[in-house]
Amino acid sequence: MESTLDRLLPTISAPSAPVTEAMRYSIMAGGKRVRPILLMAGSDAVGGNTEKLLPAACALECLHTYSLIHDDLPAMDNDDLRRGIPTCHKVYGEAIAILAGDGLLNYAFELLSSREMREAVDPALLNETISIFGRAAGVFGMIGGQTADILFEGKPIDADTLSFIHRHKTGALLAVSVEMGAVLGGAKPEQRDALSKFGQALGLTFQIIDDILDIVGDEKKIGKPVGSDTRNQKATYPALFGLDAARTKAQDLLNQALEALSDFDHRAEPLRAIARYVVERDR
Ligand code: IPE
Ligand code: IPE
Ligand code: MG
Ligand code: MG
Ligand code: MG
Repeated sequence: MESTLDRLLPTISAPSAPVTEAMRYSIMAGGKRVRPILLMAGSDAVGGNTEKLLPAACALECLHTYSLIHDDLPAMDNDDLRRGIPTCHKVYGEAIAILAGDGLLNYAFELLSSREMREAVDPALLNETISIFGRAAGVFGMIGGQTADILFEGKPIDADTLSFIHRHKTGALLAVSVEMGAVLGGAKPEQRDALSKFGQALGLTFQIIDDILDIVGDEKKIGKPVGSDTRNQKATYPALFGLDAARTKAQDLLNQALEALSDFDHRAEPLRAIARYVVERDR
């Protein structure tokens, strides 16, 4: 993933060079690369030609990194640290950070529909992939969740609304990562359904653990400020239910995710390992 990102990220010359520098700054700072890896593991699980899917995997990381750059802006979570280094807007200023995010969002679609992808995959499958990716990233997915996340800061919230926020702001992109791998890998309909269920359970777990790490995590490991959610009065699982209940919920969802893979053979082992990692992680 690291070398492919380095190869595929755009570099343009002056006068607009700073926007591509800022894009590269935030992407190459690292990160777990969970979403691109989920795409590849999803394809592996159905016996797909995974090597050829690297541009699609990179598209997920571009879209995700754009969401982080915008999430950290003063108008949103107002955070100064990301992936262990100052946030994009701290280094390049707010205007360039907004544009770098926009650049990554658009570049994600360019990568997904690139010649490399068109040569590797059946056109109908590629179209379907672009469509579910757009939906998961937009108002029916991540943007919808981010909107509710902001609107519910400091407000009383019920369990269903909190679940809506988490399933959308984070769950949607994680779930579609697995589903894109399934579609691009040529999954049968029942395989795609099972992998989609897996991704949805995993996506919600992922954000519950993120909420927990915002309280009990080590800043050096998570690479972002501890206590950001408390400062912003965010609606989170530990805030609503307590740390222990949040951990139990994450564990239940992990079991649901693993259950969804019960009809898969050893080729789904990477997905199972990632799911366990998501709950055990400390970064
Ligand atoms: C952080 O995502 C934002 C959420 C959606 C919870 P990650 O925990 O995947 O962040 P990186 O990519 O590893 O930095
Ligand atoms: C992330 O939620 C959702 C995104 C789409 C970026 P958070 O605001 O909890 O993510 P972190 O903790 O800043 O990484
Ligand atoms: Mg946020
Ligand atoms: Mg945030
Ligand atoms: Mg968080």
